[in-house]
Amino acid sequence: MPHNMKILLSRTQIADGVARIGQQITRDFAGESVILVGVLKGACLFLSDLARQIELDATFDFIAVRSYGTQKESAGEVQLIKDVTTPLEDKNVVLVEDILDTGLTFSFLRKLLLARKPRTLKFAALLDKPSRRQMPVQADYVGFQIPDEFVVGYGLDYAERFRNLPDICVFSEDR
Ligand code: IMP
Ligand code: MG
Repeated sequence: MPHNMKILLSRTQIADGVARIGQQITRDFAGESVILVGVLKGACLFLSDLARQIELDATFDFIAVRSYGTQKESAGEVQLIKDVTTPLEDKNVVLVEDILDTGLTFSFLRKLLLARKPRTLKFAALLDKPSRRQMPVQADYVGFQIPDEFVVGYGLDYAERFRNLPDICVFSEDR
């Protein structure tokens, strides 16, 4: 494995967590349609696996944000780079994120999406680092709570790299 990587969540553990969230969403929206809105780029692997675990009429859309800061820390300013193209009014929307960390990104996106008047807005985060929270937000669906470690793989990056690792790994530069 490249660099200083230690597996935190293996591909089979990830698949189990994704399947569990898929079942929860399938149950919560039984008989209805959902729009899955993935936050680029980190959530694209999670969304593609999650979508196949949801047994509902589902469509996809994507949104992209940038948060300023260093490569491992958000500086608290979130900017919209790409908006959804689907009208969300009166729709069931599930926002799909790789990780809920400080909560700044989700707070920003929640405000933005609620202004579109969806029927429901739920938030699915594969990973949750509760100890890092700066905003009072939580996800409706969480795959795994993880400690305060910087992780890469399965969509998550360090300076745009390592998104394609099949497992979620703790990454550290010191070696
Ligand atoms: P928040 O706004 O601090 O909640 O951060 C959410 C975003 O920060 C995620 O969508 C990730 O892009 C990034 N992020 C937070 N923690 C990690 C990590 O451990 N590895 C990689 N990206 C992370
Ligand atoms: Mg990132």
